[in-house]
Amino acid sequence: MKIIVTGGAGFIGSNLILYLLENNPEWQILNLDKLTYASDLSYLKTLKSSDRYHFKKVDLVDRKEVNKIVKHFKPDGVFHLAAESHVDNSIKGPEPFIQSNVVGTFNILEECRVLWGREEFQESGARFLHVSTDEVYGELDDEGYFTEETPYAPNSPYSASKAGSDMIVRAYYKTYGMDVVTTNCSNNYGPHQHDEKLIPVVIQKAINKEPIPVYGKGENVRDWLFVKDHCTALERVFKQGRAGETYNIGGNNEWKNIELVRNICEILNEEVGEGPEGDYKNLISFVTDRPGHDFRYAIDASKIKNELGWEPSTDFDGMLRETILWYISKYRS
Ligand SMILES: NC(=O)c1ccc[n+]([C@@H]2O[C@H](COP(=O)([O-])OP(=O)(O)OC[C@H]3O[C@@H](n4cnc5c(N)ncnc54)[C@H](O)[C@@H]3O)[C@@H](O)[C@H]2O)c1
Repeated sequence: MKIIVTGGAGFIGSNLILYLLENNPEWQILNLDKLTYASDLSYLKTLKSSDRYHFKKVDLVDRKEVNKIVKHFKPDGVFHLAAESHVDNSIKGPEPFIQSNVVGTFNILEECRVLWGREEFQESGARFLHVSTDEVYGELDDEGYFTEETPYAPNSPYSASKAGSDMIVRAYYKTYGMDVVTTNCSNNYGPHQHDEKLIPVVIQKAINKEPIPVYGKGENVRDWLFVKDHCTALERVFKQGRAGETYNIGGNNEWKNIELVRNICEILNEEVGEGPEGDYKNLISFVTDRPGHDFRYAIDASKIKNELGWEPSTDFDGMLRETILWYISKYRS
């Protein structure tokens, strides 16, 4: 099997490549990534000597380049993760989000459609897995969950760009019968996330004894999914999901932001223990909420559980601790 992973130098993509290569010894993986500020190839340095891993720097917005690569590599499958992914940045400057997330998705999807329409691919089972977010569904109040039937109501330029790309992928199934599957997942956490995201920010600020910023009163709720659980879910959907379907992937693990931040501080108190007056929680500082900050996201992941037998792990404290230890060693080295 020849597999393309797009965005493989980012947080989820890099964890996914390591996981897929380890668990699928017959797979060759080509990582396509533009290497934006959010990327970091060092996490994949152990793969340098592997003849099953290849990397190509490319901007998916560059259609000619994407055409050349797809034609030459002839993938049997694509895990499409490349995207501009930071909501705050999309508020400050939405254009790269529309380019990379909408146009970039179209380019790689269209090139695969052309390739897989050829005679030699007719019976190949080649598949395009599009990785999206629960943010396309908008926000929830205190109750209820997003299901695959929840109408789209994106609120930020980021989620709108992801919603647009989901619709293009859906249309390729409906119009051309292309074998596509889409996943919409909740907030991921784990090693190798960019320093700008919530959990790394909290750890970094705490270790540096700087104020830990929390939007509003920290009442916003997110459902936290361990990135390694996400990788097993993506593999399962790629191999066993039904063509044209969407699968929601969540962690069954809701936390108010402030509770999560306090949890992290508690673990840092135990693992590092250098917080002001013995407690990193003293660094928590509430800052003005951002515009369009969705109140709550929560995923109903029963479809992927019932159809594909996937469930997230339950040891949140253990996985959060593992994550924190990884960042401590990164920031201290
Ligand atoms: N991290 C989360 O909690 C989360 C939650 C839901 C969905 N997602 C989705 O999962 C995917 C991966 O997220 P992530 O957190 O790993 O993001 P990330 O920002 O860490 O990594 C994204 C990668 O995509 C690359 N990229 C961006 N634009 C590109 C372009 N035009 N051409 C080629 N490469 C490009 C970047 O260089 C980067 O390496 C995204 O599609 C995101 O929308 C992430």
